[in-house]
Amino acid sequence: MQERIYLTPTPVRIWHWLNALGIVTLCVTGAQIRFPEYVNFFGTYKAAIRLHHTAGIVVALSFILWLFYYGVVAKMLVKLYVPTGEDLKVGAIRQAIFYFFYYFTGTKENPHQESPTNKFNPMQKGAYVVIMMVLVPLIIVTGLVLLNLEPLRELLHVFGGVRVVAGIHFLVACALCAFLPTHFYLATLGHTPFAHFKPMWTGWEDHHDH
Ligand code: HEM
Repeated sequence: MQERIYLTPTPVRIWHWLNALGIVTLCVTGAQIRFPEYVNFFGTYKAAIRLHHTAGIVVALSFILWLFYYGVVAKMLVKLYVPTGEDLKVGAIRQAIFYFFYYFTGTKENPHQESPTNKFNPMQKGAYVVIMMVLVPLIIVTGLVLLNLEPLRELLHVFGGVRVVAGIHFLVACALCAFLPTHFYLATLGHTPFAHFKPMWTGWEDHHDH
């Protein structure tokens, strides 16, 4: 039997694709800014910096949309994103075993069935909570500080100066760049390779009974 469920509301889809475009642009322009002697995608160094700043503002604004929608409108932030003790102790291991073995043999059903109030499996929750509640806020805050160096000079001193802030910004950027291919690969592990992409685009998921 096939049933359709409305899994991804419009504000979440707008945030996700603006954020994806912004983060991919930040990674590419960031590579040119950090390694100008090896990377030149945008002609001049100045053009890469300008695009990096614009993409940073897009990511910051879309993050506010994500936080406002899930935190204030839907009030689902903790329920959807924060893993429970049970998720960490048992659920994540069960899900990893499914992805490593049974997904390929097709002999066991996925232990997690998504619904609007329980969208993510324990592995997704673990990854998404770190990405959305630690790494993305950190990259936004360090980026905004680097963008406003002069007025924040005194405050910067307290946190170890520009080098420390730039170092954190770079390390978090590396983690986000590494997240992208993993995220893309895991997103293709639905009952068809694009099954999880569809609700991220249309909002609706075709739910199959096995
Ligand atoms: C080109 C890049 C990207 C593609 C193709 C992509 C694809 C997808 C797909 C197919 C889903 C739905 C399946 C799932 O929940 O795993 C999804 C969800 C999600 N993605 Fe991405 N993504 C991209 C970039 C990003 C980036 C840069 C971030 C964060 C920094 C991100 C964070 C998330 C989160 C948190 C969800 C769950 C959203 C929700 O339903 O609340 N994605 N992504």
